[in-house]
Amino acid sequence: MASSSVFKSTSSHPHIKRSWWKESTVYQIYPASFKDSNGDGWGDIPGIISKLDYIKSLGVDIVWLSPILKSPQQDMGYDISNYEDVDPLYGNMADHDALIKGLHDRGMKYVLDLVVNHSSDQHPWFKQSRSSKDNPFRDWYIWRPAKYDEDGNRVPPNNWESAFSGSVWEWDEHTQEYYMHIFATGQPDLNWENPKVVDAVHKIIRFWLDRGVDGFRMDVINFISKEPGLPDGKITKPGFLQSGVEHFACGPRLHEFLQGIGKILREYDAFSVGEMPGVHDTREILKGVGQDRGELAMAFNFDIVDIDHAPGSKWLPREFTLPKLKTIVHKWQTFMLENGGWNAIYMENHDQSRTISRYCSDDPKYRTKCAKLLASHLALQSGTLFVYQGQEWAQKNMPKDWDLSHYRDIEVINHWKTILRDHPDDKALQQQAKDQYWLIGRDNARTPIQWNDSDRYAGWTTKDPARPPWMDIHPDYATWNAEAAVKDPNSAFHYWRKLLALRKSEKDTLVYGRFEMLDIEHDDVCAYVRNSDDGRRALVIGNWKEKEVSWAVPKAYADMLKREHILPDFKNYSEETQISTDGGKTTITLKPFETIVAIG
Ligand code: GLC
Ligand code: CA
Repeated sequence: MASSSVFKSTSSHPHIKRSWWKESTVYQIYPASFKDSNGDGWGDIPGIISKLDYIKSLGVDIVWLSPILKSPQQDMGYDISNYEDVDPLYGNMADHDALIKGLHDRGMKYVLDLVVNHSSDQHPWFKQSRSSKDNPFRDWYIWRPAKYDEDGNRVPPNNWESAFSGSVWEWDEHTQEYYMHIFATGQPDLNWENPKVVDAVHKIIRFWLDRGVDGFRMDVINFISKEPGLPDGKITKPGFLQSGVEHFACGPRLHEFLQGIGKILREYDAFSVGEMPGVHDTREILKGVGQDRGELAMAFNFDIVDIDHAPGSKWLPREFTLPKLKTIVHKWQTFMLENGGWNAIYMENHDQSRTISRYCSDDPKYRTKCAKLLASHLALQSGTLFVYQGQEWAQKNMPKDWDLSHYRDIEVINHWKTILRDHPDDKALQQQAKDQYWLIGRDNARTPIQWNDSDRYAGWTTKDPARPPWMDIHPDYATWNAEAAVKDPNSAFHYWRKLLALRKSEKDTLVYGRFEMLDIEHDDVCAYVRNSDDGRRALVIGNWKEKEVSWAVPKAYADMLKREHILPDFKNYSEETQISTDGGKTTITLKPFETIVAIG
């Protein structure tokens, strides 16, 4: 078995500037699903406030909330109709102020979700815009006349496909033009070419910073600059509609716009993370996060979460392999450290399914072991770490036998309608889509948090809620819930808590140290090394397969496996790990999903 490292470790990175947000861990809350305080079946801000001590006890530094601003909820708040007010579903401005204070009192910071690639179609700007062609707000959105095919049929201005199925163009009868919506029809794209839009966004940013917000997560921020002329997307699949993403991800004016935002953020020393789908080139993302660029602090890239579906087609499965994952991790880790950029490291969020189910095993026998394996794999990389609600106590995907009536996500619902319309008799294709919904569908991340086993609502809502939870609660709540995890010293929760503490006490190595992935081509074991400038090293080894696996440890790191270096807190088996040395060759034999961490 090959044990040599494919990539060479590089020189140290003294030029990486240190900063508070690089050393922070962010906890993401999906408010609709976190905790319902008033029994209306919808999570809310007072619910979050009631759990701040729990969040603090995990050891996170920053809390990011998915959108809680006024919204018709076509896409769960990612369609905002008033940027300066809280949606009554979640509470009011006073609740929001209390949340900020509650976080600040506990030494945590607060990050708001800024959704400004598009607004809701119910936003007054859009209502004005669609009212007439000469309305002063017309040019705040992207309007285009129809095209006509050879037979004189009206066709959209180009072939771009919406992320939520169908064309990105919606015909408006009233003014006889199309408007663009990369997401739902209720999410029209703002026209950033109009300086008034840019000013309005700057005003929103200042409004919240002045109210005590510590920074922003910026929704699909790399989509705000579209290529002039809006050319057709390249043809990659049969039919008229094509992704087109090459014409709107990282468009020509993106960095000018980000610099405008960055200037305000720096005035407040604010946190920022940009969501950047559709780009796999490290250099492209570096332009937005390079430490001397004056743009964003970091970005979410989609390389790993795109690993198990076809490019541009989320519902066409593609095999997940460990060497692919390791190649991606190595690429982003080394590139950002060597080039003065910074990574946001994450594997779960409200748009991704649960990682134990997706990449590992959620069988009760292995569930906690897998949660720990994935936790040490992620948390000891360089970058700012993001933990998503429920990830800390090993939440898994929705039950496999839940049919489509349990799904709520517009992405899945629209896709399923398209499948039934276009392929009504293709049972195999329908099954493939359903399998993929379960494997990577967003609803998996959105089931209500299981707080305890006190009643059939898992402590998520009041004992007698006026309305049932907006999404069904996972039936395994009696065994798997936050309270049980906190009580059990061997739970995933305490493993995460200790990892977060380790990142702090070993930050020279674990936050800022060099990174080297070992043995990338190995199918079963993922092992990497972190190196600090003063010679301290960390070695993380995990077996990602449900079988015993032996791995020849590269000579340079064999001495790291001396007993005194292996940290007992970060093992996921109580038995001793099998390590043998024979003729100068060190081999480690790992049980199914076993992980270890060594430092020294
Ligand atoms: C981002 C959000 C996602 C939303 C989309 C449109 O990808 O994370 O939840 O549907 O943008 O706003
Ligand atoms: Ca509520």
